[in-house]
Amino acid sequence: MTQRKILITSALPYANGPIHLGHMLEHIQTDIWSRFQKARGHQCYFVCADDAHGTPIMLKAQQLGITPEQMIAQTSQEHQADFADFLIGFDNYHSTHSEENRLFASDIYTKLDQGGYIKRKTISQLFDPEKQMFLPDRFVKGDCPKCGALDQNGDSCDSCGATYSPVELKNPRSVVSGATPVLKDSEHYFFDLPAFEQMLKDWTRSGSLQDEMANKLQEWFTEGLQQWDISRDAPYFGFEIPGAPGKFFYVWLDAPIGYLASFKNYCDKTGVNFDQFWQKDSDAEIYHFIGKDIIYFHSLFWPAMLEGAGYRKPTSVYAHGFVTVNGAKMSKSKGTFIKARTYLEHLNPEYLRYYFASKLTSNITDLDLNLEDFAQKVNADLVGKVVNIASRCASFISKKFDGKLTAEIAEPDLLAEFTAAGETIADSFEKREFARAIREIMALADKANQYIDAKAPWVLAKNEATLTEAHLVCSMGINLFRVLMHYLKPVLPAMAKEVELFLNDELSWSTYQTALTNHSINVFKPLMQRVDMTKVEAMVESSKENLQQTAAAPVAKAVVAESKAAAVAPADGAIEPIGETINIDDFAKLDLRVARIINAEHVEGADKLVKLQLDLGNEQRQVFAGIKSAYQPEQLIGRLTVMVANLAPRKMRFGMSEGMVMAAGPGGSDIFLLTPDDGATPGMRVK
Ligand code: 2FM
Ligand code: ZN
Repeated sequence: MTQRKILITSALPYANGPIHLGHMLEHIQTDIWSRFQKARGHQCYFVCADDAHGTPIMLKAQQLGITPEQMIAQTSQEHQADFADFLIGFDNYHSTHSEENRLFASDIYTKLDQGGYIKRKTISQLFDPEKQMFLPDRFVKGDCPKCGALDQNGDSCDSCGATYSPVELKNPRSVVSGATPVLKDSEHYFFDLPAFEQMLKDWTRSGSLQDEMANKLQEWFTEGLQQWDISRDAPYFGFEIPGAPGKFFYVWLDAPIGYLASFKNYCDKTGVNFDQFWQKDSDAEIYHFIGKDIIYFHSLFWPAMLEGAGYRKPTSVYAHGFVTVNGAKMSKSKGTFIKARTYLEHLNPEYLRYYFASKLTSNITDLDLNLEDFAQKVNADLVGKVVNIASRCASFISKKFDGKLTAEIAEPDLLAEFTAAGETIADSFEKREFARAIREIMALADKANQYIDAKAPWVLAKNEATLTEAHLVCSMGINLFRVLMHYLKPVLPAMAKEVELFLNDELSWSTYQTALTNHSINVFKPLMQRVDMTKVEAMVESSKENLQQTAAAPVAKAVVAESKAAAVAPADGAIEPIGETINIDDFAKLDLRVARIINAEHVEGADKLVKLQLDLGNEQRQVFAGIKSAYQPEQLIGRLTVMVANLAPRKMRFGMSEGMVMAAGPGGSDIFLLTPDDGATPGMRVK
């Protein structure tokens, strides 16, 4: 395979707000793709930056009583901490308010101007006479010119849906000062986008753009391209336009240039050759991952600016859809506008990485984060299928075979099937069909579990005569698990690292086809906890709380925060007893035993029940357990659990139930079967 040179970017988040799960979809998508390309041995870099300029950032800093520089420095730290905690592996994270960006923006503008692509024109706009500033559309409010609805935005009416120019508003007022805006003339600078129409049409056709994007561009070509206003008057937080005192580049002019600036900053630190990537005849590949709302900027303005200034254009621009939560737009009042930090305070980042991966395709459709489905899928796939393979095989190898895998592979054909899937899985990752890759990986995980179920090594291990076979089966299971974790490494980098420690091996695309034989592994530690639905609910609750806090005055905010904290954490952390208290004699009546689930089946005609065959060491019991909403029967076979062994047998419609298994949780997909640690054996008394 020839080594490719690849530069990847995610869109630059604005420096005036927190990272939320909408941003995370894009950064997770980009990160998985970048980790995949690196794993395949390509020379690949992933850069990003904060988008630090513009009126909202200037005004927010004023409100906070700090300089914009102070504000963006603080936000940059928060953004980087959020991304790092979601395991986003940038090679560089920079800012558009940087020297590199100033130089590139000036240089590109100067070249465009010299090429005759910058036009000057005087326009009339609303101006705040008190604040002495021009007002962007969203900083003007007034009454709808069509239906008269009060307090509408400067560009559109929420009541009747009309769109208009802010000068058409009735009773307009400045959102910044409340003053009545006046019309004022000013000279603006325009980028001559129509001059690039033919080039853009060719680029659209020749490039590897998504179909939806190519169609959208076609619509825009039909509507006709317009001159683009790239200047703003002082006061503005941005870069002053060379040779035009008091005029600044509009934030969207220097935002994509931030991609160049961040990469240049990286190249200067590391010695990577910047020009090899960005010069006109470069053979490197450049991809921008973006949301569907900013296609216009990335597929029209940006390639035209690059072309006009003598740089190469991106290889492609990959847009994704928006994140919805529980089927609706993210909402602050419902608690579904979830900040990255709030998520991290409650849940493992790899749950979300996996869930997004399991639903991401190469197209622009929106992705729904259904919180029930999220918990169910992570629990069923990662915990119930993938981790289950290792947890069922590891302990025998550690305990009975000193942690050493067998010298031979029990089922070479099965292992070959797993490794052979590598190329189609890689192809799915390459094409950004992550959902397809995950489906393929999970189908293999099912096969691995079926193999282990069929061989039942826990039965083989009980008998000296079949101990060697148990060793072969478990070593085989570990090898199958290793191949799968290798495929999942771009999605689950932290878990993959834990697996590397456990297996004493690096999960690498160049070695996974060679099996691990005669190899010592380490003691298995649980690799991933099940998603706890109460934590998901707590996350939603505290996302609602965020809103109350932002709406409240600072003093009230502190009060709200304190009283909330007191409400959720009882002073001594005590658990309220349910029902009456029992004494020690009552407790002694319970005969709790460790049991091995040796078989589990669906029950015809019962949605909630699973029929379990339990081994108690010297006897077997049949128990019907209402745990089907959380477990597939096949996942349960081979596990240890705890049962109430002296519960009077009950005759049920489906047969006799001879005891009860113990589980925790509120119900639904959140039922957690109690599982003793390795070392417990069937029949042991639980005290
Ligand atoms: O829409 C946004 O959030 C912009 N800050 C994205 C900028 S991407 C690139 F052009 F800088
Ligand atoms: Zn209206």
